[in-house]
Amino acid sequence: MLIDSLNEKNDSSPAYVAGLVAVVGCDGTGKSTLTAELVKNLRTRWVTERRYLGLISGEGGDKIKRLPLIGVWLERRLAAKSEKTQRMSSKSPALWAALIMYGFSLLRLANLRKIQRLAQSGVLVISDRYPQAEISGFYFDGPGIGVERVKGWLMTRLAASERRLYQRMALCRPELIIRLDIDVDTAFSRKPDHRYEELQDKIDAMVKLHYNGSRILELDARAPYSEVLEKALDVISSVAVASQRRDKVIV
Ligand SMILES: Nc1ncnc2c1ncn2[C@@H]1O[C@H](COP(=O)(O)OP(=O)(O)OP(=O)(O)O)[C@@H](O)[C@H]1O
Ligand SMILES: [Mg+2]
Repeated sequence: MLIDSLNEKNDSSPAYVAGLVAVVGCDGTGKSTLTAELVKNLRTRWVTERRYLGLISGEGGDKIKRLPLIGVWLERRLAAKSEKTQRMSSKSPALWAALIMYGFSLLRLANLRKIQRLAQSGVLVISDRYPQAEISGFYFDGPGIGVERVKGWLMTRLAASERRLYQRMALCRPELIIRLDIDVDTAFSRKPDHRYEELQDKIDAMVKLHYNGSRILELDARAPYSEVLEKALDVISSVAVASQRRDKVIV
């Protein structure tokens, strides 16, 4: 006899975190510019906070530099290594680099948990970047070590364990992801200090990500900035109203 059943272990659509909005996209799409301005605008209506969920480059790099004693040294070493260690086409990172990457991934998970709690407390959170478990590489905000490129028992265990951290992070789905799309020439014109091939890699990877089935709004980041801002504001406002943040209105 057949019995109807619901396999609760295989929940393919975990709940999203209400009030958490992430802005993702390749370098130069305008994530930092947009998230800062969104928060300024949204704060007139709701309690809103901006958070950074990237890692080494940009704001993350500055944080590393501020670590006591080893900060400046570590930031330089990672910056020098990052070209090689972050690109998945390169060979396995050294054990010391893999351990540091693992540490950064743990910090990212802790940071995400704090952000999740902040959103659950009723604050509208706009995050610059978001971790994903689909493509390896810190370049793409995925696992840094990369199970695909490591050899040996210890490194394989470490890489697999780091991937599980990202799979846990992927279960925490934002209410909305805004993906900024761009072409490589425009991205390069806005980030001339980056390598052209690196930007192309990031653009190619970015469009493939599903963020564990999250709702994704695609915006053309080549459009005039005011247009991008207006579209993002519109959709976030409707999301915020729908998730009943009216009680958080500032008068
Ligand atoms: N729609 C736009 N039109 C023209 N210029 C833009 C637009 N959006 C952003 N910019 C400009 O592009 C540059 C890069 O923007 P920004 O630093 O915000 O990108 P990002 O996505 O945060 O990059 P990264 O990933 O490296 O942190 C800035 O000088 C910004 O003023
Ligand atoms: Mg930025």
